[in-house]
Amino acid sequence: MSIDFHASENRSSYTGRSADKGWLKAMAEIVNPVGKNVIDIGCGGGIYTAGWAELGAERVMGVDFSQVMLETARENTAYLPQVSFHWGDACQTGLAAGCADIVFARALIHHLDSVDSFVAEVNRILAPGG
Ligand SMILES: C[S@@+](CC[C@H](N)C(=O)[O-])C[C@H]1O[C@@H](n2cnc3c(N)ncnc32)[C@H](O)[C@@H]1O
Repeated sequence: MSIDFHASENRSSYTGRSADKGWLKAMAEIVNPVGKNVIDIGCGGGIYTAGWAELGAERVMGVDFSQVMLETARENTAYLPQVSFHWGDACQTGLAAGCADIVFARALIHHLDSVDSFVAEVNRILAPGG
C-alpha cells in the first residue's frame, strides 16, 4: 500500500537529511542552476528544494499536493530566503506558464495517475529553452 502523504504521522518521512554530495555533483554536471528559477515538483520535506538552493539557484519553489509535507518543508528550509513553497497538483500546478528555467521531480512519477499529463504541465511551466 502506498504511503498517505497527507497524514500527519508521515510529516517527517522525507526529511532528516540533506541532499547527498554525489547528487549535488551529478546535478551540477547536467545543468547550471546559478541565477535560475527552479521548480521542484513533489518536493516532500524539501531536501532537494534546499539542494537546488545550495547549487546556486536564484529562486527555488517546491510544489506538493500535501499541506503536511509543505509545512515540514517550510520549517526545514526557513534559513533559505530564496526558497518558497506552493500547494498544487503535479499535473495542474496553478503556476504561470513559462515561469521555470528548470523543473525537477524526484520519486514522484510512480505516484501519478498520468505521466503524460505531468509532462504536459512541465512543458507548460518551462520557459523557452528551459
Ligand atoms: C516519495 S515523496 C518524494 C519527496 C521528495 N521529492 C524527495 O525525493 O525527498 C513524493 C512526494 O510527492 C508528492 N506527491 C505525490 N503525488 C502528487 C501529486 N499528484 N501532486 C503533487 N505532489 C504529489 C507527495 O506528497 C510527496 O511529498
